[in-house]
Amino acid sequence: MKILVIGSGGREHAICAKLKESSLIKKIYCAPGNAGIASIATCVDIKPMDFLAIVDFSKSEKIDLVVVAPDNPLSGGLVDILNANEIKAFGPTKKASEIEGSKAFSKSFMAKYGIPTANYAVFNDYEDAKEYLERLDKFPVVLKASGLAFGKGVIIANDKVSAQNSLEDMMLSKVFGDAANTVVIEEFLEGPELTLLCFTDGKTISAMPSSQDHKKAFDGDKGLNTGGMGAFSPAKAYTLELEKEILDNIVKKTIDGLNKENRTFKGVLYFGLMATKDGVKVIEYNARFGDPETQAVLPLLESDLCEIMLATIDGTLDKLDIKWKNKVGFSVVVASGGYPEHVIKGYEIEIGKLDKDIILYHAGTKEENGKLYTNGGRVFNLSVVADSIEKAREKVYSNIDKIKFTGSRYRSDIGLK
Ligand code: AMP
Ligand code: GLY
Repeated sequence: MKILVIGSGGREHAICAKLKESSLIKKIYCAPGNAGIASIATCVDIKPMDFLAIVDFSKSEKIDLVVVAPDNPLSGGLVDILNANEIKAFGPTKKASEIEGSKAFSKSFMAKYGIPTANYAVFNDYEDAKEYLERLDKFPVVLKASGLAFGKGVIIANDKVSAQNSLEDMMLSKVFGDAANTVVIEEFLEGPELTLLCFTDGKTISAMPSSQDHKKAFDGDKGLNTGGMGAFSPAKAYTLELEKEILDNIVKKTIDGLNKENRTFKGVLYFGLMATKDGVKVIEYNARFGDPETQAVLPLLESDLCEIMLATIDGTLDKLDIKWKNKVGFSVVVASGGYPEHVIKGYEIEIGKLDKDIILYHAGTKEENGKLYTNGGRVFNLSVVADSIEKAREKVYSNIDKIKFTGSRYRSDIGLK
């Protein structure tokens, strides 16, 4: 088979690397990819939102399967357009992706199907939202842009004044652009967070090992929310009992609800969860593999990823027995200085000799004249598969300083929480 993967980050590098192990695949393309992906796939200079160019390329190269990894092309309906052109695509349709693309929709969906989540209110009008905050007496409170905002559209405000200021930033100054034309204001939940990624063909659900992201920019969960600064798998809070609660009370209800709404979901459904004292609640859904969770979870997969993707499309996931290594997956992001606010790109990168069990995924790099340069906020992921979190931490953190570029930084506490 010839495969085209859409995207350019560490997640896409991890997906390409896992697909590379498949005996079904002859050639992998990635659009647009990055300097690391270029070592295992042919990168093509097509942007993920250039749907016509993706369709044209897929036709001319006779691509057998397109894997759509990022949120924007999924929400924009790339899978629908590929299907309309009789090109096989892995990922949910535009209607199914709305579970991620509109928090206003996902909240009302959860309310309708009795899926536990934080109490909330939705606003399209600034004055109404301002008045609501005025009357509110419970803080912190959480403000969320309803639309896609690069994983950064969530603000936790500790008091009324900062909540009002954040609301103004979102709805009047438009710091998240049109993503915050609609704002969700919700109850602040407390408890350990965990992520559950599931393959689903709309009937069968196959959960991957659980994982835990680290969203804040700095050690000790300080600073702004980022796309994620590191992850490990399995999540520490995850027990068999919790798994049963999550599958019965959240995952099954979600898949069934989406079917009832005529939004059958095929692909990877991401459950961002919080284990509160009143049970597990949904923080967010994503309609795709998470980044950086994927860079911690996919190295644990023993089965053929291409075969799983085909089964989710064909509706035959029930026929597969998907195998995972019973180990710890661990991944730390090396970011550019200033990430997530002001990222300067284009610094030359030097990589020393890494231990051979380190898996280096490129997230934001490019190559020019044989030299490697930074090309994004998140630049690398250092991943490892190990027997324990302690061993994984020791391995990654004893290698991470071998990656050198101006302003580079990382969190040193991944896996400690
Ligand atoms: P999201 O992009 O919706 O996953 O939100 C980003 C991060 O904000 C989450 O990973 C949580 O750490 C935090 N967060 C979101 N919603 C809530 C909430 N209702 N209560 C507490 N923290 C939240
Ligand atoms: N790690 C969170 C996300 O992919 O949105």
